[in-house]
Amino acid sequence: MKLTAVVYLQTGLADAAAELAAQFGVPFVDGVHLNGAKTKYLQAFLTEHAGDTTGASAFVMDADGLKLYALGANYGVAIAADFYGATVTYRRKLGGGKGQMIAKAVGLRSGLSPRVLDATAGLGGDAFVLASLGCQVTMLERAPEVRALLSAGLDQARNFAQREDAELGDILERMQLVHADSHEYLKNIEVSDRPDVIYLDPMFPERTKGAMVKKEMRVFHDLVGADLDADGLLDLAMAQARYRVVVKRPRIAPTLGDSKPNHVLEGKSNRYDIYTIAKMPDDLGRK
Ligand SMILES: C[S@@+](CC[C@H](N)C(=O)[O-])C[C@H]1O[C@@H](n2cnc3c(N)ncnc32)[C@H](O)[C@@H]1O
Repeated sequence: MKLTAVVYLQTGLADAAAELAAQFGVPFVDGVHLNGAKTKYLQAFLTEHAGDTTGASAFVMDADGLKLYALGANYGVAIAADFYGATVTYRRKLGGGKGQMIAKAVGLRSGLSPRVLDATAGLGGDAFVLASLGCQVTMLERAPEVRALLSAGLDQARNFAQREDAELGDILERMQLVHADSHEYLKNIEVSDRPDVIYLDPMFPERTKGAMVKKEMRVFHDLVGADLDADGLLDLAMAQARYRVVVKRPRIAPTLGDSKPNHVLEGKSNRYDIYTIAKMPDDLGRK
């Protein structure tokens, strides 16, 4: 997906927009007159600036943070990393806590908080759930646009937490974003930094054309591709995790690589393949 511009909608964001634009080698554009305007006017403005909109996108910065707008065929879709909107907050407060499948997969029990390396962080949704449940989570993301969205989402949430939500601030403190390709990171990890659990959720090639794929998912897929090198990540993860590797897959997808998991937790649309390396001590991460 080709990034065409960084557009800022508030004068105070011009410097930040210029910095991000320089990072991506695209122009930064004053869109202050569109602040608060309907999305269709913003989209028309972005389209005008993009020229050829085939597979194109643009970053937009406003008081709510950073979003990536798709142009062309996916016109109207925007993606962002969100850690304090209504849906995320509902799940954090009422979403089932350690009873959630992801918590069981990672091995969370009361008083037990493994250090997790999320080697395919994406927009940080799973990492946030794990950090909400007490894990220290290091996130690795290699796609520059996704990393920019994730980093901006974390900053935005930290500002919000400072003003209004100390508990959210504690959760965000447990999340650390590292700019790295996981293959390289895992090959070079120090023995003392080996995580308790490595969590993998690589992209899966899109299913059939007729499948109901959410528009946001399609845009995300266009952005990062199919992670065709994901099989190799499992072996590396197995060599570096202390206690287990967890792989999230669509429910009907084949396993990653050729190894058979020791346990599988299956949900409605996803499943977690669990590869055990050693038993977790009962007091792991206890303070
Ligand atoms: C399906 S998404 C992960 C979604 C994430 N679990 C969430 O909850 O938002 C997969 C992400 O992993 C990233 N990724 C895949 N292989 C990677 C690698 N070797 N190193 C770093 N990031 C990788 C992709 O760029 C993509 O953003």
